Amino acid sequence: MSVAIIAGTAIYDIPGKALRKERIETPYGSAFIYRVAGEDLIFLARHGIKHDTPPHKVNYRANIKALEMIGVKRVLATNAVGSINTEIPPLGLALLTDFLDFTSNRKSTFFDGGDSGVKHVDMSITYCPTLNQQLLALAPSFDIDLRPETVYVCTNGPRLESPAEIRMYAQLGGDVVGMTGIPEATLARELGLCYAAVVFSVNWAAGIEETIRFVADSDSFDKIRADILALFIETLKTTSDEDCCGW
Ligand code: HPA
Repeated sequence: MSVAIIAGTAIYDIPGKALRKERIETPYGSAFIYRVAGEDLIFLARHGIKHDTPPHKVNYRANIKALEMIGVKRVLATNAVGSINTEIPPLGLALLTDFLDFTSNRKSTFFDGGDSGVKHVDMSITYCPTLNQQLLALAPSFDIDLRPETVYVCTNGPRLESPAEIRMYAQLGGDVVGMTGIPEATLARELGLCYAAVVFSVNWAAGIEETIRFVADSDSFDKIRADILALFIETLKTTSDEDCCGW
């Protein structure tokens, strides 16, 4: 059984590991995954390793279906976000426990009627509690201050939000905002994969400062990338398919 890491902005490989690209054909189109040499680990760069696919054009269904088809059961994902909640400053890391979906026109289900059937999958718990518990338990050993219980707002992009939109998301309980977390997480849930996500903030969301300023410090990104990948690899090593949430 394989495990997978899905990465987005700022993380395009696993330093120190040799990756072999593979194209997987799914009923929803092609997905490109990378097998980590000598390990039962898959790496998937959702924007592509050259970051040439924008959030609204990522083929989320092909990516998640491809992982399922090759036997992946546990997935750890990371996304860059803007901070709405002042408890998560830029460069802060947070663990997702719930989401608000403001995307539109994305192919967001495997249960589209016809041959694929009609099914209403419960999203009461979308992010795997077993993976979340282990990520939180291991974070201090990597000196990572991981904020627990974080609500992710997914916008369609590629434009950024207006200050009024961010005020609305804040009132609705959103802590961070990004463009790629949904439908990736919900599709994983539809297929019964154990999926968890750690996000890292790269800016204050619109309206918190006069204009949006992205963190541009490459040393900080190098540290975040190393921290997240180390935490993910250890979490995947110290959990098992059998002991996971079991959906
Ligand atoms: N909004 C939406 N997506 C983002 C942001 C943001 O401010 N920062 C990083 N991804």
